[in-house]
Amino acid sequence: MRKPVMAGNWKMNKTRDEALEFIYAVSDKLPSVNQLDSIICAPAIILRDLVKRQGSNLKIGAQNVHFAESGAYTGEISPAMLSTTGVEYVIIGHSERRAYFNETDETVNLKIKAALAHQLKPIVCCGESLEERETNKTHEVLDRQISKALEGIDKEDLSNIIIAYEPIWAIGTGKVASAEMADEACGYIRSLVKKQYCPACAEEIRILYGGSVSTKSVSELMAQPNIDGGLVGGASLNSESFIELCNKAI
Ligand code: 13P
Repeated sequence: MRKPVMAGNWKMNKTRDEALEFIYAVSDKLPSVNQLDSIICAPAIILRDLVKRQGSNLKIGAQNVHFAESGAYTGEISPAMLSTTGVEYVIIGHSERRAYFNETDETVNLKIKAALAHQLKPIVCCGESLEERETNKTHEVLDRQISKALEGIDKEDLSNIIIAYEPIWAIGTGKVASAEMADEACGYIRSLVKKQYCPACAEEIRILYGGSVSTKSVSELMAQPNIDGGLVGGASLNSESFIELCNKAI
């Protein structure tokens, strides 16, 4: 069976001191790594500090990586640089990066390949806008995003990839998708993986839901057959709330 995942995406929040306070507060209160992958994706500048203090039940991830090995990309971080921080995961293609930093399905694909080449595990984001949902384009959008994201990725690498379905209209709005709606979309993504790869690949890949997940909504979401965990923004910033999310996820 698929091991559940609870991943916090801190986005551009927390100074180093605030982050360390959080890490110490959660350290002995998270489920064991055999039961759950508990992950915090933090701003790049504090990743190394967090990795040093992460404890055995918490994993650390980044929120972005560049696809090039090195070069004239002012302000960017290469996959080799990221991997020297000791992080295990990296979020790729978050809708905020697509909207504000011009990331495309093509760059998402390049970034996934670059991350895998440096032993970083991608958490690949996809999801439709409100307008796309209302005009029945959700499947079409997921089809395009997933087929391009995974283009040229070997079947053997799929076990190192997590997919996160994050409908844009549910992010930071307090409007969580209904559990049925989230499960339907995650099930559709699973069917795309089956079509592009194989039935066993679809059974094995972990698919998360993200968008206003809270300690109130997490249990119902986790009970859905196609949802293996959450990618959580706001509710992951508070240590007590993150502990509760992780414990409810198992
Ligand atoms: P919220 O949980 O704050 O809606 O953010 C979701 C998200 O974007 C996680 O990547």
